[in-house]
Amino acid sequence: MKKEFILILLLFTIISCSEKNTNNDKVKLTEQIKDKTEVKKQSDSLSMTEIREKLKKELGEKYYAPMKKLTPKQLAQGKIIYEDRCAKCHGLKGKGDGSYGKGLTIPPADFTDSTRAAFYSDEARKQIIRKGILGTVMFAWEDKLSEKEIDAVYAYIKTFSKSKK
Ligand code: HEC
Repeated sequence: MKKEFILILLLFTIISCSEKNTNNDKVKLTEQIKDKTEVKKQSDSLSMTEIREKLKKELGEKYYAPMKKLTPKQLAQGKIIYEDRCAKCHGLKGKGDGSYGKGLTIPPADFTDSTRAAFYSDEARKQIIRKGILGTVMFAWEDKLSEKEIDAVYAYIKTFSKSKK
């Protein structure tokens, strides 16, 4: 009898601990968003076509630069970064269905949508990761991730649209 009691107690402790963790994550993310994005009014956000034009101007020739080939090790690193930093919004499988993205006016991008994946160039999407998208909760990552980490996480994102074909 005593043993069972201890077991149940243990189970409760584990459950409450894991809940605390996700809550903490959410708080961290909310703080990050608050001080980083200055989420502007909805009316300030641009359409995808406008964003693409802006990125073409910003990047010039670099817009069409081909992607470097990454090693499996870098791809594995990208997966870790993705699951840690991006999946809460973009979803573990990249469908844009992460818990934090629910109810947003501009929902997180669905990376499994191959038409959408081809809308911007590779370099443009990496620039979005660096600089964020004004007027959405997609904020800039350039001060949190190194250029190598951005390469890795981007290469991982690309696997979502590839595997669907
Ligand atoms: C707080 C939620 C949130 C987090 C965290 C987040 N994103 Fe986003 N992301 C968004 C939203 C919202 C958009 C805008 C979708 C749109 O423009 O329609 C977006 C757009 C993007 C786009 C451009 C759209 C496309 O189809 O290419 C890329 C690339 C992207 N995110 C990558 C990332 C990466 C990489 C991470 C992690 C390092 C990340 N995001 C973390 C919410 C988030």
